[in-house]
Amino acid sequence: MAINNLDQFCQQFKALLDQKPDWPELLAKGRAMLGELVSNHDWFKDTLSRLVLDQVFLKNQWQSIDPNDIQLYFSPDKDFSVRAFIWEPGTYYPIHDHGAWGIVGALINQVRERKFARVDDMSDVNHAKVKQISDATLSPGETTYVLPLHDGIHQMLALKNQVAVTIHVYGAPVRKGFIHYYDPHFNTAIRVYRPSINKKMLAIKALGSIPEDWAKEVLLTALNSAEPDYILDECRYSLDKMGDK
Ligand SMILES: [Fe+2]
Repeated sequence: MAINNLDQFCQQFKALLDQKPDWPELLAKGRAMLGELVSNHDWFKDTLSRLVLDQVFLKNQWQSIDPNDIQLYFSPDKDFSVRAFIWEPGTYYPIHDHGAWGIVGALINQVRERKFARVDDMSDVNHAKVKQISDATLSPGETTYVLPLHDGIHQMLALKNQVAVTIHVYGAPVRKGFIHYYDPHFNTAIRVYRPSINKKMLAIKALGSIPEDWAKEVLLTALNSAEPDYILDECRYSLDKMGDK
């Protein structure tokens, strides 16, 4: 059945996932479906119009980690989501990883995608060495994909002075709460959180750089609270850092 709009895509993609395909089949069939959806951007007019003209639609967008992430659909079973990303030309978008597999298609204008591999031993949570392994240009209708965690590190950029839009289908996350930004100059892996908790996480990171008892006390109190694992981990990293001093 042809795919001309988001509803048709989501229905057919859900039917595909329900067959529990292995990854190669999911990737091949999912890319073909997404390729159809992004071959024509008529269906996306409504999204752009509503973002500009419909205050409720705009307000219902939640503040995710990436500021250019437009949420389009979440499956009720939480097994996939569909988002649009809007890329501004001449803007630096960091090299990053993902908490889930993702299939990505160019919808409006071209984007450049560079993929990277980790080439360090991953023994230090704050450091990473990445090496570029591919550099491709995607035109509307073309697709690419990412794997979860360090197997799917990439960077996307708009080309030719034109704002670009891509459509991303993500699976259920195997890691929640943060992604990494990688800096190949400083060889760092920075954990980046959604805006609503980012200041708290920065404060936890800052406490790890203050070798004083009160700072340790705050971290230990936080560590004994019922927070999600990724917050407790950040407290542990800061306490470890203090212990190193
Ligand atoms: Fe990405």
